[in-house]
Amino acid sequence: MIRPAPTPRYSPADSRYEKMAYRRCGRSGLRLPAISLGLWHNFGGDTPHELKRDLCRSAFDHGITHFDLANNYGPPPGSAEEAFGEILATDFAGYRDELVISSKAGYLMWPGPYGEFGARKYVIASCDQSLKRMGLDYVDIFYSHRFDPDTPLEETMGALDHIVRSGRAQYVGISSYNTERTKDAVAILNDLGTPCLIHQPSYNILNRWVERDGLLDTLEELGVGSIAFTPLAQGLLTGKYLNGIPDGSRATQGKSLLPHHLSDDVIERLKALNAIAEARGQTLAQMALAWVLRGERVTTALIGASKVSQIEDCVAAVGNLEFTQDELTAIDARALDDNLINLWARSSEEV
Ligand SMILES: NC(=O)c1ccc[n+]([C@@H]2O[C@H](COP(=O)([O-])OP(=O)(O)OC[C@H]3O[C@@H](n4cnc5c(N)ncnc54)[C@H](OP(=O)(O)O)[C@@H]3O)[C@@H](O)[C@H]2O)c1
Repeated sequence: MIRPAPTPRYSPADSRYEKMAYRRCGRSGLRLPAISLGLWHNFGGDTPHELKRDLCRSAFDHGITHFDLANNYGPPPGSAEEAFGEILATDFAGYRDELVISSKAGYLMWPGPYGEFGARKYVIASCDQSLKRMGLDYVDIFYSHRFDPDTPLEETMGALDHIVRSGRAQYVGISSYNTERTKDAVAILNDLGTPCLIHQPSYNILNRWVERDGLLDTLEELGVGSIAFTPLAQGLLTGKYLNGIPDGSRATQGKSLLPHHLSDDVIERLKALNAIAEARGQTLAQMALAWVLRGERVTTALIGASKVSQIEDCVAAVGNLEFTQDELTAIDARALDDNLINLWARSSEEV
């Protein structure tokens, strides 16, 4: 019988820590890579496992030590955690202590009254399910994925505190909470003795809600780190849509990047931003990431990727994080009314 040749075992690049910058997360002792990889898209059952594996390998080879997941990432929900669990058990076996892995609970995960939001029953059960899917004893960071207006914040934060005390997570975070709710959550967590490590808001050149809301100032004062999600506005802030919509791109998938996100007005703004990036010697994606990371208030930029070449392009952003005042002014002139693209506004508007 002829056996297929075994796939060579992956060994991460020896150079993996040479170029990436690692930045302290708030006032904690944890440092995160300037670029982190999220598994929201392209890690579900509709993507071949080889691609997921190659994306994770490439990320780690380039010094991306932080991988961000959530219970519902897929489709179907849970499948991204299962795929990542397989990668942890094979390619990343032996490297657990070099990785920072996060997951979250908040969005709909199972039917009935206990499958979403912030009740203790849901949050702890969901964390257990996530650990099982990934084959982990603990995650490094566990998040409340969205604010729950109908559950006392003490209950949701108490569940996060329990998750740490019971050894299911090392640190906790919150996502898409507005400034006022963030202050409340951080105070409760401090009282419980489990400080809030990190906040995960959407933030990019086009979507400035965290600036208007004062969230970045508040996080700095509180000593809480931040991880900006959709720093590329789901791919808008890259070169890919400047001359039409490429086959297979997120805009063709009818999932979360919708036709009205690609209006003529948006494309004109992207073209102007691309010209600024070219003058800096960066791709538009690199400039967009550098812009989020400027001044160190944001700890890490949380990208997604559908190709290894995108990860390579993105990690090179850390080579130039400085901006002149003229560049910043020109970039500011291209910001949008972020209600157009901020799909998560509802959570941060809840009180
Ligand atoms: N907390 C929350 O509520 C929340 C919500 C959303 C996301 N997140 C987190 O944030 C992560 C990132 O979100 P995102 O994927 O929307 O982020 P993003 O980085 O803004 O967009 C990623 C997409 O941009 C394109 N892209 C990336 N690099 C590129 C490059 N160098 N050149 C050309 N195109 C490039 C790819 O699109 P194509 O697929 O078209 O190639 C890729 O899928 C998620 O995985 C998740 O972990 C959290």
